[in-house]
Formats: sequence, structure tokens, C-alpha cells
Amino acid sequence: MLITGGAGFIGTNLADRLLSDGQPVLVFDNLSRAGVGENLAWLRERHGAHMEVQVADVRDALLLRRAVRRACRVFHLAAQVAVNTSLSDPIQDFEVNARGTLNLLEAIRTVPEPPPLLYTSTSKIYGALSGVELDGRDGRYLPKDELLRATGLAENHPLDFHSPYGCSKGAADQYVIDYARMYQLPAVVFRLGSVYGPHQRGTEDQGWVTHFLTRALRSEPITIYGDGRQVRDVLHVDDLVEAMCRAQVRLARVAGRAFNVGGGVANAISLRDLLELIRRFHGGTSEVRFGPWRLAEQRYYVADIAAFSEAAGWRPRITVEDGVRRLHEHLREAVGERRGPARTAHVPVLAAARS
Ligand SMILES: NC(=O)c1ccc[n+]([C@@H]2O[C@H](COP(=O)([O-])OP(=O)(O)OC[C@H]3O[C@@H](n4cnc5c(N)ncnc54)[C@H](O)[C@@H]3O)[C@@H](O)[C@H]2O)c1
Repeated sequence: MLITGGAGFIGTNLADRLLSDGQPVLVFDNLSRAGVGENLAWLRERHGAHMEVQVADVRDALLLRRAVRRACRVFHLAAQVAVNTSLSDPIQDFEVNARGTLNLLEAIRTVPEPPPLLYTSTSKIYGALSGVELDGRDGRYLPKDELLRATGLAENHPLDFHSPYGCSKGAADQYVIDYARMYQLPAVVFRLGSVYGPHQRGTEDQGWVTHFLTRALRSEPITIYGDGRQVRDVLHVDDLVEAMCRAQVRLARVAGRAFNVGGGVANAISLRDLLELIRRFHGGTSEVRFGPWRLAEQRYYVADIAAFSEAAGWRPRITVEDGVRRLHEHLREAVGERRGPARTAHVPVLAAARS
């Protein structure tokens, strides 16, 4: 099982699941995301020799091709993941997200038996969704359209790339679907919204549930960009990993398609609601500051998960309340540990030598 970006948040959780199921994993990651070395150390401690790590970059087509030749399945997670970073360096964002994905597709296309591919796209490719009329009463934005409010946004909603990140991930999303169509590659796209859970390094730019919780645990101020009434459906990473495994089993039904995969309407929450939930679990109060709206920010994004549920027999099991409580407990231990004596994680890795 080849996981690009396997040292990252979703990759670590996926690798842990696959390794626990007895599947050998090759993590292909350039370790560019701060802190992911700790994820690798954790995986090593749990799974030792069953996991192989290649410190390498998806922009290196040759190394990627060699890794793909050894793979029976590919999960493509490696990416530049932050909108703000994409705004300050659009070329690098394009090279990693769009070109890196094309490198991977070419590697898969040119092996005699192309392995199945799962690609993690993003809800950002639907743009700001400014055409969706909203009602902002009751502390959260909800669509005026009753059907949309009841079901969330489906895959047939027009694509509308905003920001370099939206463009590079959207291009990759479309390339994957088109390679499936043109070259009959067994590939599926997951369009993800807000995923949260253990091993996430949440920052202001990505991973807001974990970021808010971590700030609260450290009694640090939390900044909300906008008015905090924006709504997202959140998905616990365990539910996502289960969806990824289901997609592999139901490959014939899902190949060539893109799915909105998220918590769905049952797990929709506003930023203000999340702060309230955190207050309930944590008790402490972080100072909350407000900043200006971010460019092209969606006031409301909730995934309609009916298509994937129907194709793969999957539904999220972990409610927001339960998931946030679990993550709070996990982070409380992790933050507590980090405050203890400093430890250096030793991560044995394979060098990315071009031999
Ligand atoms: N977490 C979410 O809520 C969310 C939402 C939408 C989409 N996604 C997508 O899911 C995927 C995984 O996200 P995540 O939250 O685990 O992010 P993450 O940053 O934790 O993981 C990404 C991993 O990719 C690695 N990486 C970055 N550039 C690389 C390169 N050039 N070559 C090799 N490795 C590289 C990083 O070191 C990191 O370990 C990404 O494609 C992201 O766009 C995530």
C-alpha cells in the first residue's frame, strides 16, 4: 500500500489502520509539514518493520514511478494544504498539487497493471458558494433553500476554483477523473471538507477543530476570521479511514467518480458552536478575537454524502460531540506530555537516493 503524504494527519491514521489489518505500507513523504516526524515515530513504535518510509517528493517523477511499481494500491494524500501558503507561493503550490498528481497518474498509467488510486481532493473546488442564499439567524448560516439545508451540497454543484490552492487541487481532481475515463484507471476522488482527529497539526490555515482545541488547552487566544457563524460539516478521521477502506472494497462501483465525503448535515457545526462545545469539555476560556473575512471563504459548506453512502454502504459513526470530546482527551494528554521533559523523536527512514 503506497501512501503519498503518509506521514501527515490523514496518512498516519490510514497507515495505522492498514498496518493493523496486516497490510504492509510504504509511506512516501518529503516531511515538509512541520511536526510530521512525530507521526512517523509513533507509527514506527506501533508497527516497526512492517512500515517502510521513503523521504521523497512527489515532484520527483522518477522516484514516484519506482514507488508505484511496487504498489498494489495507491492513496495520494501528499499536498501543499494551506490556502494562505498557496497565495504567497502559487508556483510551488501548483508544482506539488497539480504537477505532483500528474506525475503520479503518469506513473500509474505506465505500469503493466495499474494499481487502484484514491485521491483526496477538497470542497474548496466549489469556490465561495456565494450563489447559495443564506439565512444567518440563530448564530449560524444556513441555506434558505430547504432541500439544500436538508441534504447538503452534492457533487453536481458547479466547480468554481478559488485561490491557487483551489486551482491546483481542482486541476488534480479533474485529471484523476479524466485519467480514469481516458485510460480506464481504477481511480476515485474524495472531496473532503473539514477532517479532524489525532495526529493533526492544526494551524490557523488548516485543521481548525484541532487548532481551536489546542489553543484552548494552552489558554492561548483564538482568532476567528469572519463572524464565526460560518458552518462546516466535520468528519472524524476514523470515519474517513473507514470510508477509504470501503472505497477499495467497492472499487467497481466507485471508480471513475468523485464523491463529497464529510460529516454530512448531521455533523454540521458553526465555529461559534464549536467554541461552545470546547468550553463545555474544557471549562477554561480562551480569549476570542475576530479578524476580517478571508478571501473567498465559504459561509456554508456541508457535504451531501448520499452518493458515497449509497455506493459504498458507508455513513459517519462518530458524532461531532463525541469526536470533539475524544480529541480533547487525546490532546490533553499530548499537550501535557509536551510540557514535560523535552524528548527527541528518532525516526529511522529510508534515504531518497536515486540509485
Ligand atoms: N485535513 C483536512 O481537513 C482536509 C480537507 C480537504 C482536503 N484534504 C486533503 O487531504 C490530504 C491530506 O491532508 P492532511 O490533512 O493529512 O495534511 P497533512 O499536511 O497533515 O499531510 C500532508 C503530507 O504531505 C506531505 N507532503 C507535502 N508536500 C509533499 C511533497 N511535495 N512530496 C511528498 N510529500 C509531501 C507533508 O509532509 C505531509 O506529511 C491533502 O491532499 C489535503 O489537500 C484534507
